[in-house]
Amino acid sequence: MQKICVYPGSFDPITMGHLEIIKNAANIFDKVIVLVAINPGKTHFFNINERADFIRKSVAEIENVEVDILDGLLVNYAKKVGAMAIVKGLRAVSDFEYEFQMALVNKKLNNETQTIFIPASQENLYLSSSIVRQIGTMGEQIKGLVPDVVHDIIKEKLIKRNNLEEEKWAFMKY
Ligand code: PNS
Repeated sequence: MQKICVYPGSFDPITMGHLEIIKNAANIFDKVIVLVAINPGKTHFFNINERADFIRKSVAEIENVEVDILDGLLVNYAKKVGAMAIVKGLRAVSDFEYEFQMALVNKKLNNETQTIFIPASQENLYLSSSIVRQIGTMGEQIKGLVPDVVHDIIKEKLIKRNNLEEEKWAFMKY
């Protein structure tokens, strides 16, 4: 039987920290489905199709990783595809309370899909999508914080849409 896991999140946008978790999960499971979701508690910067596209391009070379858009409850999706686990990344103790609550809710909704936490490496402890957005909004380069292919697409989009000079691209003009 194939061991499948789902890795859900907002991924607004995907960071090097997310990519690290995806790679670790892909080493453990036969198949990883990265699920891009709309989090009702957040205002998303990139639309859901853009976010999914950024991830697809970032994982293009990892054979056992797929990307999908989540519409509805996570546990229902997990059940539908036969996923045995929900993977979440943990950076700091501050992540834990929220993630633990989500894990307990999901367990209550479906006791067959277990949540598994993978800790971030030291290198990515500080990294989050909101930090990336903040730096980008200041017009600073986000190279090294997001996968190179994502950086290049964002930059290209901004320059094209706003007729910006190569050096002067910023998220706020997006
Ligand atoms: O990256 P995020 O924003 O912390 O991810 C949150 C996410 C998308 C994992 C969460 O909002 C989610 O699971 N949404 C799907 C709807 C769902 O199943 N909710 C029940 C758990 S409260």
